[in-house]
Amino acid sequence: MGVAVAVEDLSKYFGKQVVWEGVTLTLPAGEISVLLGPSGTGKSVFLKTLVGLLRPDRGSIWINDQDLPRLSERELYATRRLFGVLFQDGALFGSMNIYDNVAFPLREHTKKSESQVREIVTEKLEMVGLTGAEKKLPGEISGGMRKRAGLARALVLDPEIILFDEPDSGLDPVRTAYLNQLIIDLNQQTDATFLIVTHDINTARTVPDNIGLLHHGHLAMFGPREMLLSSNEPVVRQFLNAQRVGPIGMSEEKDDADLQEEARSGEELGQLPPIPIQLQPSDGRSRRAERTPGQWCRENGVEPPPGSFEGRRADPDPDPWDDRPTITLPVVRRPA
Ligand SMILES: Nc1ncnc2c1ncn2[C@@H]1O[C@H](COP(=O)(O)OP(=O)(O)O)[C@@H](O)[C@H]1O
Ligand SMILES: [Mg+2]
Repeated sequence: MGVAVAVEDLSKYFGKQVVWEGVTLTLPAGEISVLLGPSGTGKSVFLKTLVGLLRPDRGSIWINDQDLPRLSERELYATRRLFGVLFQDGALFGSMNIYDNVAFPLREHTKKSESQVREIVTEKLEMVGLTGAEKKLPGEISGGMRKRAGLARALVLDPEIILFDEPDSGLDPVRTAYLNQLIIDLNQQTDATFLIVTHDINTARTVPDNIGLLHHGHLAMFGPREMLLSSNEPVVRQFLNAQRVGPIGMSEEKDDADLQEEARSGEELGQLPPIPIQLQPSDGRSRRAERTPGQWCRENGVEPPPGSFEGRRADPDPDPWDDRPTITLPVVRRPA
């Protein structure tokens, strides 16, 4: 069931610049977590620190009883194989066709024969819906297909942890919806622990089991999706609901004068929008980390915003499928 990643009091500086300090969170094994935050708050630096491409200045990253920052280069090299990473631009080699791009980590890190490589590459390309695109160069396919090729390459070493850096950047809303469905389906099929950095509020609201928010050099909050979507903490509320009212300004923090002016202008926050139900795997099975809609709110005595979890009963359901939307298309196989 995947592996948990426990981050303890992690800090990263570049010279005098604080990227973030004192970050503590646990990515639960096999669950999907989303990391949000304004641009430049160090989300990409956080992912690179997790995989060991950057060293933190303080703190621990525990995986399988190993503290990553304390490992030697050689131990770290081995531990890195637990990770699959989808970088922002897909990071494909432009002169290699899709097949060779996806085969690359296998040829580099394993002693598999070419026929074994073929079997694995074919399987992963099928998982991401790219069968038939093997001979294409990255420049000859759409942005959405490049992301999926990058994802297939991230999958070939059967990672326990998959990190996605803005997988939806540059994609239109329809492609984003397909990609999100693919992510849910892969999580169901692979069992791995997922961390997704995104700016897409709809993704953040419907895809993850957990949400974290980096803001102003700190982790403002990390926890179950329902906790953040019902939170009235100003930064969390502003970000998850894409509001102008709140502590985050156009280019930097609003100062006290700005905030007082905002309070005077009487712009209202209003009611939180309803918490949507989570996106479900397209094969009709339940998510790995399935929780009853509203469970966290009930267990913690939090009244969810009116209209939350529409389309699902809030109580444990003997037949959990009867009121779920049916998805009939084999979504993961559709070409972009
Ligand atoms: N290798 C690096 N050396 C120095 N500064 C860096 C490096 N990588 C990122 N930064 C700085 O760290 C901050 C966070 O960057 P980043 O993680 O890319 O933000 P985000 O992904 O949240 O938009 C930025 O100010 C960026 O300029
Ligand atoms: Mg980034």
